[in-house]
Amino acid sequence: MSVIDEIKARIDIVDLVSETVQLRRSGKNYTGFCPFHANTRTPAFAVFPESGTWRCFGQCNEGGDIFKFVMKKEDVEFGEALQLLAEKAGVQLKPPTPEEQAAAEEHEGLRALLEEAVTFYRHQLLNTPPGQKAFEYLVGRGLKPEIIEAFGLGYAPNSWQATLDYFLSKKYSEQDLLDAGLVSTRETGGVHDRFRHRVMFPIRDERGRMAGFGARILDPNDVPKFLNSPQTVLFDKGHLLYGLERARKTIRAQDQAVVVEGYLDVIALHQAGFTNAVSPMGTALTERHLSLLKRFSRRIILALDADAAGASATLRGLQIARQTLEREQDPVFDARGLLGHEGRLKADIRVTTLPEGMDPDEVVNRDPKEWESILADAKPIVIHVMETLAASRDLDDAKVKEEIAAQVLPLIADVPGDIERETYRQRLARLLRVDESALVGARRGRAPRRARPFRQLSSQPAVEPAITPAMHSYALEAHTLGVLMRQPDWLYRVDRALQEAGLGRLSPNDFQHADHQAILRLLQESVDQDQAEPLNYVLGKLSLPMMDIADGLLENTKKVDVGEERVFRELIRSILVLRQRNVRQSVEYLRFLMEDAQQDAELGLPQYRQSMIQHTNALQKLDRALGQFSARPH
Ligand code: UTP
Ligand code: MN
Repeated sequence: MSVIDEIKARIDIVDLVSETVQLRRSGKNYTGFCPFHANTRTPAFAVFPESGTWRCFGQCNEGGDIFKFVMKKEDVEFGEALQLLAEKAGVQLKPPTPEEQAAAEEHEGLRALLEEAVTFYRHQLLNTPPGQKAFEYLVGRGLKPEIIEAFGLGYAPNSWQATLDYFLSKKYSEQDLLDAGLVSTRETGGVHDRFRHRVMFPIRDERGRMAGFGARILDPNDVPKFLNSPQTVLFDKGHLLYGLERARKTIRAQDQAVVVEGYLDVIALHQAGFTNAVSPMGTALTERHLSLLKRFSRRIILALDADAAGASATLRGLQIARQTLEREQDPVFDARGLLGHEGRLKADIRVTTLPEGMDPDEVVNRDPKEWESILADAKPIVIHVMETLAASRDLDDAKVKEEIAAQVLPLIADVPGDIERETYRQRLARLLRVDESALVGARRGRAPRRARPFRQLSSQPAVEPAITPAMHSYALEAHTLGVLMRQPDWLYRVDRALQEAGLGRLSPNDFQHADHQAILRLLQESVDQDQAEPLNYVLGKLSLPMMDIADGLLENTKKVDVGEERVFRELIRSILVLRQRNVRQSVEYLRFLMEDAQQDAELGLPQYRQSMIQHTNALQKLDRALGQFSARPH
């Protein structure tokens, strides 16, 4: 029994969910109000003790097992949910290695030191005369004392050693201060304060743990304008977004994140009630940033300032960099790169442009309504580029048309969805006032996918398929996933087969168990990224307990001959059965919800009816597809 099984056996899902949701019994299942979206009218949240799963039939339309529940509730990754639940269940996870133990302790120590630094700088801001000047500067920038306090802003004294001396007197060593990035080494040996005469912005990770500082000059002659903590074990600009620990709740609730450029912009927006704003730290937005955000919402708006978004677009072939010499790295609006991230992450990234010469803080301090309309104006990346390129150009000029088409068409070709791609092409044709067929002729086709070498882990002689109708869903999931791990190339074939049957792609939601969902997600990611060795990629990303599970999945399917056509058909069948079970479970529950809604004469009935129709249609399609795949191959 894996630790996962053991934890599941020990923790009753009804007990666990009851800690946050008031559940009511209904037959063998339970119902309540979904804790993950605002709702009061109809209890659209169901718990199924038999399968150990839950589901929200309302807005979230999502479900899973106890791990998934904790992941959503606590905003954590699988590994952390596992730890939390293991503790609760009294199940011993593999003890950390001595190295891991040492690293964890070091991190703890550094975080504690950084917390003390926050207090120190705040004290300087509030209780010293030069700090008072800094405070007045912030107030002059439109910040109220409450928000200055809430973001823990501070002041670094104008000294080479005030911070150093303070912490040495608190029994920290020079090495500790270096590791935390609070001091720098002198060329002549020894260390000095890294941050001097600056406003200090504490930077925390998404869970609110201290990671480092950003520091802005007060004297306009000082350089650089912003100085961040150096790269430390805790501070990695590619992984952190300023303000996320305060923004994540709203981002989830509103299902929208807004990315701005500066620390002060984030704070000003939060002060004005736009608490879904975050910013990177003077670096370009990386895919890591975006996937971090996507844990809270897949709808992401980038608020670009006018010159980043605008004029220079035409000149620099969509690679727009702001020329700020003291910047550690130029933020780049790279439409092509963003489209790639968007496709891989299945995110919805939009771009909106700020008024010429204004930053978000100025906009929102002038008029909060204006910020709302700027957000409302956000456009998909391709549309944004198209319109920017066309702005103030003479669209009657054939050469101009040609030039714009040449820049936009390759972008359009990168868009993964057929319908989306076609829509953009139509938009471009309309914008340039040319016939769409002219664009099709000019279109550079999508690069054909690199053919992957046929790979197979073990090819023992075939044994009878392991799938039986009575198979428990965990085992069926495990078998299905095991086969896919042995033959990741089949992910494409599976999707094609499903699509031909009028069904949606294979999705992590076809699996109810969080461990399986996580592995499938990685597997799909590896294939989408054209990883040469998908399985190694997946294994490389798993935590230790997950590794055990993955091993188990491979072990259980080692007799399956993944070269055989029969095995492929069986794989499809098992996916269809999994989906069928999920839909049936939903139908059963929807029926209950509808009765309930009728009795209470509450709202929600039409929505459930709609949902029921969709589910019934889906079941019919699944039945048909199952028939097809059961028929003997010719
Ligand atoms: P800006 O120069 O636009 O500053 O840099 P700002 O945020 O508008 O600051 P104010 O309004 O002049 O006070 C935007 C962001 O780029 C990063 C910082 O994160 C900053 O908030 N940056 C800028 C750096 O990291 N280093 C720099 O030298 C400059
Ligand atoms: Mn600014």
